[in-house]
Amino acid sequence: MPGPGGVLFFLLLVLAAPLATAWRPWPPRDASGAIDSGFGASKKFEGSSDFVKLEYHMGPVLAAAITVHPIWYGAWPADQKRTIRAFLRSLSDQKVPSPSVADWWRTVQLYTDQTTANVSATVALGQEKTDARMSRGASLSRMDIQSVVRDAVTARTRPLPVDAGGVYLVLTSTEVLVENFCGQVCGFHYFTFPSVVGYTLPYAWVGNSARRCPEVCAYPFAIPTYVPNRRPEAPPNGDAGVDGMVSVIAHELAEMASNPLANAWYAGGDPSFPTEIADLCEGIYGTGGGGAYTGQLLTDGRSGSSYNVNGVGGRRFLVQWVWDPYRSYCSGPNALDQH
Ligand SMILES: *[C@@H]1O[C@H](CO)[C@@H](O)[C@H](O)[C@H]1NC(C)=O
Repeated sequence: MPGPGGVLFFLLLVLAAPLATAWRPWPPRDASGAIDSGFGASKKFEGSSDFVKLEYHMGPVLAAAITVHPIWYGAWPADQKRTIRAFLRSLSDQKVPSPSVADWWRTVQLYTDQTTANVSATVALGQEKTDARMSRGASLSRMDIQSVVRDAVTARTRPLPVDAGGVYLVLTSTEVLVENFCGQVCGFHYFTFPSVVGYTLPYAWVGNSARRCPEVCAYPFAIPTYVPNRRPEAPPNGDAGVDGMVSVIAHELAEMASNPLANAWYAGGDPSFPTEIADLCEGIYGTGGGGAYTGQLLTDGRSGSSYNVNGVGGRRFLVQWVWDPYRSYCSGPNALDQH
C-alpha cells in the first residue's frame, strides 16, 4: 500500500478511483508507516509470487507498430527533450549493445490478445507538439490532460496525426501541477473519450517531479527521508528529474501497450484500479530487487551513475522491470541469471 496516511490514505485512493492507471510512489509504507518490503511478505524478491493473478480480459493490445507522439507541456530545455527522445528512439533499436532498452521491451512483447497478435516490437518516435505557454494553465486536472491531447490533435497548425498505432505522451515540466501528482501518482495512462477528443486514443501523462517531489517520483535518484541510510543513485543522464521520468515513461508505455483500453492485461477485479504489468514490479531494477532495494544495477565507469539498460547514442537509462507472464517473475535484460 502506498503512502503517508496508512489505511485512511488507501481508502482515499480507492474512493478517488482514478479513471486511469498509474505509477505510484515507491517505496511503499505499510499502515504503521514502516517500509513495506514487498508484496506483503518480506521473503519475496523480484515480485516472484504465486499469488499474482494477472489475467487477460479479452481486449486488444497495441499490436500494430506503435508511434509515440510527445506533447511537451510547459518549459522544456532542449537537453531534457533530447534525453527523453533518445529513450523513445531506443525502444526498438536492435543495434544497441545488450542489455538494451529494446531487450527490455521484449518482455512487453510477450503479451498477446485474442487475435494472438503480440505487442508490437516496433516503437517509433512520432511527431511532437509543444505547448510552452501552458494554454490550459499550470495546474491540470486529470481530464485537462485529455484536453491537452485534443488541443494537439486538433491544432490549426501542424496538428499531431491521428494514426493507427499512434499514442500520445503528455510530458509536463517542473512548474506544472497535475491532480494527485506526488501524493498518489507520478504518471498514468488511459484512453481519450470521443466526446472530449473526437477519438479513442491511448495516452499517458508523466510529470517532471524535480521541483516538487523527486524523492517520490524520481526514486532512486532521490530518496525519501523515511528510508534510512540510503544514498541516492547518480542519474545516468545527469538529471534526476528527467532520468526519473524515463522509468515512469517506460512503466506507462509497457502498461499502455498491454492494456491500452483498460480491458486487456491486469490483475485485480477492478478495471478502474487495476494492477498492471509494470505495477507488479515497481521499485525493481535488477536481480534481488524488492522493497527498498533496487536490485543489482550497473555502474557507469566514468560518471559513477547507475543504470540498467543501454540506449541509442551511447546513452544509458535506469528503467524498472516488468512482469514476465510465463515465468511469473519481474524480468529485465540486466538480470544476472535468467531464472
Ligand atoms: C509472442 O507471444 C508469444 C506467446 O504469448 C510468445 O511465446 C512469443 O515469444 C511472442 N513473440 C515475440 C516476438 O515476442
